[in-house]
Amino acid sequence: MEQQDSPPLLELKHVTKIYGGGFLNSENRTVAVNDASFIIQEDQPRIVTIAGESGSGKTTMTRMLLGSVTPTHGEMYYRGKDYRKLNRRERRQFQLEVQPIFQDPFESYNPFYKVDHVLHAPIKNFKLAESKADRDRMVVESLQMVGLQPDETLGRFPHQLSGGQRQRIMVARALLLKPRVILADEPVSMVDASLRATILDSIQNLNRDLGITVIYITHDLTTAFQISDDILIMYRGNVVEYGDVAKVIHNPQHAYTQLLIDSIPQPDPDNRWGEIVRATGTEMVGTGRQTDIFGIDAEGERSYEEVEPNHFVLRGGIEMDDRRAGEHTPAEPLQPDSMNPVSNPSLLR
Ligand SMILES: Nc1ncnc2c1ncn2[C@@H]1O[C@H](COP(=O)(O)OP(=O)(O)O)[C@@H](O)[C@H]1O
Ligand SMILES: [Mg+2]
Repeated sequence: MEQQDSPPLLELKHVTKIYGGGFLNSENRTVAVNDASFIIQEDQPRIVTIAGESGSGKTTMTRMLLGSVTPTHGEMYYRGKDYRKLNRRERRQFQLEVQPIFQDPFESYNPFYKVDHVLHAPIKNFKLAESKADRDRMVVESLQMVGLQPDETLGRFPHQLSGGQRQRIMVARALLLKPRVILADEPVSMVDASLRATILDSIQNLNRDLGITVIYITHDLTTAFQISDDILIMYRGNVVEYGDVAKVIHNPQHAYTQLLIDSIPQPDPDNRWGEIVRATGTEMVGTGRQTDIFGIDAEGERSYEEVEPNHFVLRGGIEMDDRRAGEHTPAEPLQPDSMNPVSNPSLLR
């Protein structure tokens, strides 16, 4: 029998999110995401990076993908289903299948709760266990999946564990729900280099060993290039370019992407970008926010052109003045932002 192509994992059509700005209050209006359209296929489990400077709309995008923020305009589909039309059962299934991971959620939990509490909570919420024994077995399995010894972690308080152990517990927590998709918003932005490597490693393992699609949100092109299959570049709420990470990085088509890549310090101009960033671990620096080099035509006709297979670039919407781009001075290095769900307990389910 002819097999119908399965729908994409995620599909966004002209998605816009505007904060504030009521009828009489256009001054406080922020277009956090502006007319974004893209598809994440499910033919193979991928790691997809959403990259952009602080304020570019990454967390808003993440929250919309998680279903915790509703777009102002546009349509979103999860495995072919319109987000707005999920019934109760489908909604619950969605909340199991699409999981955020948090950098250190113990910050948002009562410090007098033991580690066990963090793992028991989702099991209870989603009624995943038949019995106490069943629950305990699930907890032990999920800890082992992330390489933790149950007897070294259970029964302990968060402050008795290392940062790396705590982070793995968060991954274990997500795994309890057997997700299809994991969204990790800036999971390594506040950690030192060795822990960063560990976390990136565990993200790759989730993808390779468990077949989970990972959406990795970062302002750091270096780690994006290292771990992802696909990348989506955001600038001031606009998805300006997306597709295969090697194609986007080695053959950037949008002026903004080109500027980002150019603004990564290059110790040896003969080196290729990939080698340089691996060597230096440089973070991407800001551009547009503090300068005025990109004129935005928010109302303009826009579309994405597929310049080569799996490589799309925004046409229209944003024009860049090349002459003034030369005068651009990088902003300060980016900081983790307050909108990160890591520090926002309201996103914890
Ligand atoms: N709840 C909110 N209310 C008002 N403005 C918001 C809210 N969340 C985000 N914004 C604004 O939307 C823009 C994008 O923010 P965000 O999605 O957090 O970007 P990023 O995660 O890339 O730093 C910023 O200008 C931010 O100030
Ligand atoms: Mg953010």
